[in-house]
Amino acid sequence: MEDYGKSLRVDDRSFVPATHFQYGLVPRDQACYTCHTDYTMYGDVNSKLRGLKHLYAYYIGKPSQPIKLYRPYNNRECLHCHLGARSFEESEAHTKDPQALSRMKLNQLNCSTSGRHNIIHNVGQLKDATFWKEPATKIERRIRLAGSLLIAGLLVELVTLRWWRPTAFLFFLLLGGALMALGIGVYLLSLVSAENKPPAE
Ligand code: HEC
Ligand code: HEC
Repeated sequence: MEDYGKSLRVDDRSFVPATHFQYGLVPRDQACYTCHTDYTMYGDVNSKLRGLKHLYAYYIGKPSQPIKLYRPYNNRECLHCHLGARSFEESEAHTKDPQALSRMKLNQLNCSTSGRHNIIHNVGQLKDATFWKEPATKIERRIRLAGSLLIAGLLVELVTLRWWRPTAFLFFLLLGGALMALGIGVYLLSLVSAENKPPAE
């Protein structure tokens, strides 16, 4: 399953799940779920039951290799978001053939195997892929800075312990102490100023 997660970070816009993930078109922390639940009335229950089956297969049975979907991917899962959207209904590629749209809606023309959206996870290609690196958030940068300051302070203190000239000793002791104090300060500040994002649904 790890490779599927990795495939969301491929730096190539033709990978459909990767584009959805990286451009925030699906909630990041639920990316897999948004495309892999079935949006029918019992979708949630069904996918939870299937989740249990998965766990069973994982711990007790032998998982089938490579991982296969229980059913062929249903356009409904894409249409749940795309149906009615102008980008979907008016797209040139979708309207060139006057039958195409209705065949997509009837799941007769598969979005992910026919036509242009056929690069999905393609885990076999990940070896040669380049990946997108998410920029660090403000809090990550601050905590990293705090860590560096603390380490610098500790190093100065360690060196100072072996020093024998009294003034130098005092100077470096204070410098190390100041660096560490600053590190702790930045750390506390980063916690206090952390943005409080509303929880995802
Ligand atoms: C944009 C929608 C989308 C997202 C997001 C997405 N997937 Fe998929 N996934 C698909 C489609 C479509 C297929 C079917 C591919 C096919 O039929 O060739 C698929 C197939 C799979 C398969 C089966 C492969 C096979 O050969 O049968 C697995 C396993 C899988 N996805 C896991 C994941 C995991 C794990 C995540 C999150 C890290 C994820 N998917 C996110 C759309 C998505
Ligand atoms: C949870 C909602 C959601 C699901 C499920 C979903 N998409 Fe999307 N998708 C979006 C949004 C939002 C956009 C951006 C707006 C737009 O282009 O209409 C988008 C954009 C796209 C684009 C344009 C990407 C680009 O490069 O700009 C394609 C192609 C696409 N989706 C295909 C699919 C396919 C195929 C599936 C099913 C495997 C799917 N989507 C499932 C929400 C979703």
